[in-house]
Amino acid sequence: MSFENLGPLPPDPMLGLIQRVAADPREGKIDLGVGVYQDANGRTPVYDSVQQAESRLCQTQSTKAYLGAGGNADYVEQLASHALGGHLGLQGLQTIGGTGALRLAAELLGRSQPERRIWIGLPTWTNHEPLLRAAGLQIIPRDLDDPAHGGLRHEALLDALREAPEGDAFLIQASGHNPTGVDPDPALWHAFADVAVARRLVPLVDLAYQGLGTGWREDVEPIAPLLERVPRLLIAYSCDKNFGLYRERVGALFYRGANAGETARVRDHLLAIARVSYSMPSDHGAAIVRTILADPNLRSGWRAELAAARDRVASVRATLAAHGRVGAVDFAALAAGRGLFARLPLAAPAIQRLHAEHAVYLAPGGRMNLAGLNANNLERFLAALEAAQRRSAA
Ligand SMILES: Cc1ncc(COP(=O)(O)O)c(C=O)c1O
Repeated sequence: MSFENLGPLPPDPMLGLIQRVAADPREGKIDLGVGVYQDANGRTPVYDSVQQAESRLCQTQSTKAYLGAGGNADYVEQLASHALGGHLGLQGLQTIGGTGALRLAAELLGRSQPERRIWIGLPTWTNHEPLLRAAGLQIIPRDLDDPAHGGLRHEALLDALREAPEGDAFLIQASGHNPTGVDPDPALWHAFADVAVARRLVPLVDLAYQGLGTGWREDVEPIAPLLERVPRLLIAYSCDKNFGLYRERVGALFYRGANAGETARVRDHLLAIARVSYSMPSDHGAAIVRTILADPNLRSGWRAELAAARDRVASVRATLAAHGRVGAVDFAALAAGRGLFARLPLAAPAIQRLHAEHAVYLAPGGRMNLAGLNANNLERFLAALEAAQRRSAA
């Protein structure tokens, strides 16, 4: 064995983009690539509620002793009750961000299902496919792209699942779909629950943006049919976006088996997977979230900060939607979406030109993070979009 045998790898599309934006010295560059919230001044702030919770932790925390592979149990309890509104037989453990939750879930599915099959609709978050494959799962992709409407034909995934072998898993994003911003209609969630029950399928719900779409409660209401009716369920949760804790890596995996014995075995396996992967997650970010959620004052302060972030992104969306068309981009289509993301129907050369000639950064495939726009850069963005398309067509 030798490192010489390691072949070259293409750069990760999102991490590569973060580096390119950081290295770009141009004044007034516009970062619409990376999926983090930015305020009206282009800053990704530490919320006041988070700062207060951190200083309270500094003053009161009396030990840093190990907590165990499941992490901070109080944090998981608080999150289950505030985010998912009660327990419904769900249990959970703390994970290293939403990504860590997805990876643990994928490892668990690999252990529990001989066929190791998972259905996913495309396009989706750029890390879903490599992550699931790295855990040894066999991905069954369904192209749901509907560029004319900017969203996804979720019905096509549903149809495919009606034929899926019993016991298969499927991945579905709960709200603020990455990259399209368009979520399944409420009626479709009932249909997903029906098919999961009928075919004994395991939904893996990716809930990474609660509170940044339509509202804190509203963003989980659609998945109620799954929570209420599907016996076996996995929910990968991220607190990195809605608490602005990105680099602290705060997540949770909620799970439920068909009965108490099965749920307990799921827990044992998840803890064992965590133990051999990273032993246990770090506590600081989870302790912040627990402190906020457990204190009514901090909680309502944080909810107001989250609502302000959500409203700002929604107002950028509304402004763009009212703007109409710029070349091939019909901004009116954005009105159908929610949350940080929208996808612009741009060919690769136009996206390239935006980067190279205008210092306007979009994610691969034309995904834009609406939070990157503000009153100071909106006009420049629209002019750059027009010029990049015109010059690419010439
Ligand atoms: C859809 C989706 N799921 C999960 C994640 C992972 O989030 P985290 O940073 O908590 O790992 C992201 C992050 O961009 C995402 O967009």
